[in-house]
Amino acid sequence: MVDKLWGGRFQQGAASWVEDFGASIHFDYQLAHEDIEGSLAHSKMLSKVGIISEEECAFIQGGLKEILADIEAGKVQFSVQNEDIHLNIESLLTEKIGSVAGKLHTARSRNDQVATDFHLWMKHRLPDVKAAIKNLQTELVLLADKHADTIMPGYTHLQHAQPISYGHYLLAYFEMLQRDYERFEFNEKHTDILPLGAAALAGTTFPIDREYVADELGFGNIYHNSLDAVSDRDFAIEFLANASMLMMHLSRMAEELILWTSFEFNYLELSDSYSTGSSIMPQKKNADFAELSRGKTGAVYGQLMGLLTVMKGLPLAYNKDMQEDKSGTFTTFDTIIAVLKVFTGMLETVTVKKDNMKAALKTDYSNATELADYLAKKGMPFRQAHEVTGKLVFEAIQEGIALEQCELKALQEHSALIEDDVYVVLNPMTAVNKRTSLGGTAISNVKKEVVRAKGILASK
Ligand code: ARG
Repeated sequence: MVDKLWGGRFQQGAASWVEDFGASIHFDYQLAHEDIEGSLAHSKMLSKVGIISEEECAFIQGGLKEILADIEAGKVQFSVQNEDIHLNIESLLTEKIGSVAGKLHTARSRNDQVATDFHLWMKHRLPDVKAAIKNLQTELVLLADKHADTIMPGYTHLQHAQPISYGHYLLAYFEMLQRDYERFEFNEKHTDILPLGAAALAGTTFPIDREYVADELGFGNIYHNSLDAVSDRDFAIEFLANASMLMMHLSRMAEELILWTSFEFNYLELSDSYSTGSSIMPQKKNADFAELSRGKTGAVYGQLMGLLTVMKGLPLAYNKDMQEDKSGTFTTFDTIIAVLKVFTGMLETVTVKKDNMKAALKTDYSNATELADYLAKKGMPFRQAHEVTGKLVFEAIQEGIALEQCELKALQEHSALIEDDVYVVLNPMTAVNKRTSLGGTAISNVKKEVVRAKGILASK
């Protein structure tokens, strides 16, 4: 017999490098807390239904609590010979309380055990993700409030398009993050299901009480199919998908932070505490952390594709392939928490160069739509108004002047509909403020949306 918790039918052990290949303790040690939490609930239930005695339960519980304290005190060295966190803890328990430890695994398999640990791990961490999103949203709203009337060019195709409020821009990210928040909330629903009690795959002949375990562990629901319980990793895939979407949003903002802090744009300056210098070029101040966040998006997408591909084609129920579900999920959690914190810090300390933003609207023809709309409102068909304005823009570019610098007479040569009131219309602030349609960039709108956003934040 081989000296393993499952060694009964084995005559020969594996080489240590093979054991190492199969082990997950390198990363699933991070489930230690959840594994013990699950075992405490399971043993309590076993005693409640009379599968183990109260005395045996007390031994098991005492031992598990000691192990938890030892782990927290850094006194435990996990071993690769014991493969994973579950077998490590069970063997530590045997060392502590002797053979009664072997009763803990009654009516349980590592398959429903690992699934339970992983669900608990996720359940404990999703609130941290939501809190970190909320912190960043709060920062965006504060900044939007302050900059409702800071105007800048809005872009399409990265070309100046129409003037917008910087606050309006910031609130666009508030909205994206709100959807992310809601996605993680939904993720919580699919995580809040207890697998324990499914045993290896088919349920158990012991008279277990799954409702009791669910209550003990704080699960709102219980898997109603044992095969599904041990082989479902949707909650982790959803987490990675949500994380990918979040990172995609943050990566877009990162791109703008990088561009807008460049010499050419010069709209923003990141604080020294969120920038780095160059080892050779003394003048450099790089938006490294925005770049790094943009870069980390790649690995997060990779983890999503990784787990989707691991799960693809797996026959029911548990397969060892599924051991690959954890490390990428763990690192993704660390990544998104860190990136959200970095963005919150960058926005908390950013300097907004309002004057440069406004100055970028000079001679950029981003008020051309205003002129076309002006003509259309005076009765000219919009297509014709577009063409007339286009010709005027062309001429102004030749002369190197802005539309609002064209003399009235010159404008009137293109259309007699143009009158002196056109100059107010061409003012970028007018352009912004006239966009009062719901969701438009008018400053009055932005102020209203700030109030709405604050209400959303207050409600969560
Ligand atoms: N370390 C394993 C994992 O993470 C635990 C489950 C092992 N179950 C089994 N039947 N080998 O998936």
